[in-house]
Amino acid sequence: MATFVVDMQELPLNIPEGSRKEVMAYMEPFMLNEMSEYLKPVEQMWQPADFLPDSSRDTFFEEIKDLQESARELPYDLLAVLVGDTITEEALPTYESWLTMVEDVEKNEQGGWMKWVRAWTAEENRHGDLLNKYLYLSGRVDMRQFEMSTQYLIQDGFDIGTGADPYRNFIYTSFQELATNVSHRRVAGLSKSSGDRLLAKMCGVIAADEARHAKAYMSFITHALKVDPSEVMLAFEDMMRKKIVMPAHFLREAGEPQSEAFSHFSDAAQRLEVYTAIDYVDILKTLNDEWEIDKVTDLNDKGEKARDYLMKLPDRLLRLADRAKIPEAEYKFKWIL
Ligand SMILES: [Fe+2]
Ligand SMILES: [Fe+2]
Repeated sequence: MATFVVDMQELPLNIPEGSRKEVMAYMEPFMLNEMSEYLKPVEQMWQPADFLPDSSRDTFFEEIKDLQESARELPYDLLAVLVGDTITEEALPTYESWLTMVEDVEKNEQGGWMKWVRAWTAEENRHGDLLNKYLYLSGRVDMRQFEMSTQYLIQDGFDIGTGADPYRNFIYTSFQELATNVSHRRVAGLSKSSGDRLLAKMCGVIAADEARHAKAYMSFITHALKVDPSEVMLAFEDMMRKKIVMPAHFLREAGEPQSEAFSHFSDAAQRLEVYTAIDYVDILKTLNDEWEIDKVTDLNDKGEKARDYLMKLPDRLLRLADRAKIPEAEYKFKWIL
């Protein structure tokens, strides 16, 4: 996929530092005209029905039997991670409403930003839909418990430290889409090795969507960096100082305190190496490289300091990751039968 290249001659020279409104107005034509590079036309896109047993066919019950047989072999932690991933995807209303709260963008329904948000949501909506149906058919999940956790997560929302700032928002989404790409890809690999080829395919196509979305959000920041380098650098530094928290960090099981299920879910993901502290560092390095943080020019003093922090951060975090301890014992979730 071609990367959008900013023509330096077209850069507006009169955008004052930190004026997000002007920067977002400058990016509007890109969102309106070129974001389709990062999206796929609906009719060429996979749909959940492409992977799931078809209830109108005579072979339906046979297909469910096959699905359940493969699902029976999935290790406990892997299933727990898959349920956590599904609940995270199902909390999509939280993410959509957060994206529409971003300030300094044109809020016209047919404008570039709202069009992007709708198209992104429409693609993402298939993820939770597909995984939810798989889990329902698998016979291994207490669906009521799973559904209560989903309802709780949407009700509880999240607190990810971006505020309504477009820069922080795009930095968060760039990071987050890369993180979900890693975790769905690894779940696909592990499902394949435990013999569930169907689940492997499902997680594989979801991972590919996440990778496309990451490219889109990263390109928004590439644009913003060209016109407002210091403010974008400071926003990036701020997000990394706060640490990027996962969107399901308030995850809970019914009757249990908020966030406890999230830490058990995250332990399971680390035990399986589906998403680890090392992956966090690798994603940061990917962003530093993608945005060529070391080569950004025209920074003010604060911007230079922020850049130094960001360039040194991967090594610092790697030293900490070495020392992190993960509990060995599996936690028994209410979601899993
Ligand atoms: Fe997703
Ligand atoms: Fe995503």
